[in-house]
Amino acid sequence: MKKRLVVANWKMNPESLSQAFKLAGAYKPSRNSQLVVCPPGVFLQPLSQRFGRKMAFGGQDCLWEQEGAYTGGISPAQLRSAGARYVILGHSERRKYFAEDDKMVNCKLRAALAAGLTPFLCLGGGLSAGVSESKLKIAIRRQFRAAVGGLKSLSRTVLVFEPAYAISTFGGKRVSADEVAGMAGFLRRLATQRFGSRVAAVSVLYGGSVDKATFKSYRVFGRIDGFLVGGASLRPDEFKRILQEFDI
Ligand code: PGA
Repeated sequence: MKKRLVVANWKMNPESLSQAFKLAGAYKPSRNSQLVVCPPGVFLQPLSQRFGRKMAFGGQDCLWEQEGAYTGGISPAQLRSAGARYVILGHSERRKYFAEDDKMVNCKLRAALAAGLTPFLCLGGGLSAGVSESKLKIAIRRQFRAAVGGLKSLSRTVLVFEPAYAISTFGGKRVSADEVAGMAGFLRRLATQRFGSRVAAVSVLYGGSVDKATFKSYRVFGRIDGFLVGGASLRPDEFKRILQEFDI
């Protein structure tokens, strides 16, 4: 059976390593799902050394080469050596603040897979609230096809439906559970159209203002395999409840 995933995207938080230790130390991973914590890169190694037996770790981004002259970059191989098994790619904030485009996401995805990481491929960047369902699907299809360009298989890639407008810091528009379930089906269809029926079971996560209030409505559908959680993952009591309830 596929393991359900709860991914904590800490973004550029917290300020210090001692606060990072405190936050991870307050988490109570559940038995039936895999908790993946994605902290700022500088905290990866110390956190994975201290908590690696309780939870898994991931990067929030990576570059498309394993080493080289890319000032400020961090490579998939370096993430691995710091204890990461996963990496978030194509996040809306990378696209908005770091001018990341589809081509870069494609190169990053290939490099991450080559280094043995499991990528969380975010789809839904750059979208504004009020976009029609057909335009949303066209944009997601374009991002997906560009991201997987040249790949022979999806391999371990996990797909994440995360429309920019649903992210708490970008307005946090509530996406209905129906829409989440519908888009999860749409992503699975895109994957099978491109890679064949063997990827019908690809894992699909939802991200965007998942918190203790919205969480329950999403999980009843059973059509998604987990969540990418930003803001609520920085509130340990709330995040603990999400993990507990996901276990039921
Ligand atoms: P949010 O962030 O849960 O605060 O909306 C999710 C994300 O950006 O991955």
